[in-house]
Amino acid sequence: MAEPILSLAKVHTYIEQHHILQGVDLSFMPGRATVLLGRNGAGKSTTLRTVMGLTPASSGEITLKGRAVQAMKPYEVAKLGVGFVPEDQAVLYTLSVEENFRLAMLSESETTWARMETIFQLFPDMKKFWRSKAGVLSGGQKQMLAIARAFVNDHDLLLIDEPSKGLAPIVVDHLIESINHIKNHTTVILVEQNFYMASHIGVDYFILDDGRTVHQGLMADLVHDDGLKQKYLGIA
Ligand SMILES: Nc1ncnc2c1ncn2[C@@H]1O[C@H](COP(=O)(O)OP(=O)(O)OP(=O)(O)O)[C@@H](O)[C@H]1O
Ligand SMILES: [Mg+2]
Repeated sequence: MAEPILSLAKVHTYIEQHHILQGVDLSFMPGRATVLLGRNGAGKSTTLRTVMGLTPASSGEITLKGRAVQAMKPYEVAKLGVGFVPEDQAVLYTLSVEENFRLAMLSESETTWARMETIFQLFPDMKKFWRSKAGVLSGGQKQMLAIARAFVNDHDLLLIDEPSKGLAPIVVDHLIESINHIKNHTTVILVEQNFYMASHIGVDYFILDDGRTVHQGLMADLVHDDGLKQKYLGIA
């Protein structure tokens, strides 16, 4: 059996005095897209931020490609090959699309520009608006820029937080297609409340509730499990 690319064991995280993550156990296999599910406030974003070292774990172990990373700074985790797309279309509004991409490039090489060609195929608007300020892009286009910008580097692992938030169904379909392409290059961990999107991308899933891991399995099984979906996700 292959080793997980990333695992969390008994992870606890405090934000100020609040005990947010109260024992999160997760493991992600290389090449298998995994979705983190759970209600609002379950701790999904905090989990990704804890992996990145943005809200550091107070106890527990986080292992990335065999290394203990729970005490590392965000830039150190990023340098180990982890890309992070936070919630809410975090792009630099006053810079052009091109400048957003150039800032994101950890190194600029032939492969980077070959990757840009793939990005232009997946997200044609990035080419169309190359010289426009990112601030003028629509919500969907900003989200695509945020994802494409992370994909420009050759990451082993890409963490994406709720990419579908606020987007029209047709844009969600485009994002599903693009992320499914990205899955061929990078192990994807997706936080997503849109079950349609989650089930069209994820192979494995974990459910978080109240800062704890409460369930895990194959997405193909969860799709048919109305009881579980009702209990933890509030959908039937
Ligand atoms: N900076 C903060 N200060 C205090 N509490 C916080 C802070 N950030 C998050 N929390 C709390 O931590 C809990 C988990 O938040 P988190 O953002 O991880 O949830 P989530 O599962 O991503 O939810 P959503 O689906 O709404 O994005 C929530 O109860 C939230 O209110
Ligand atoms: Mg969140």
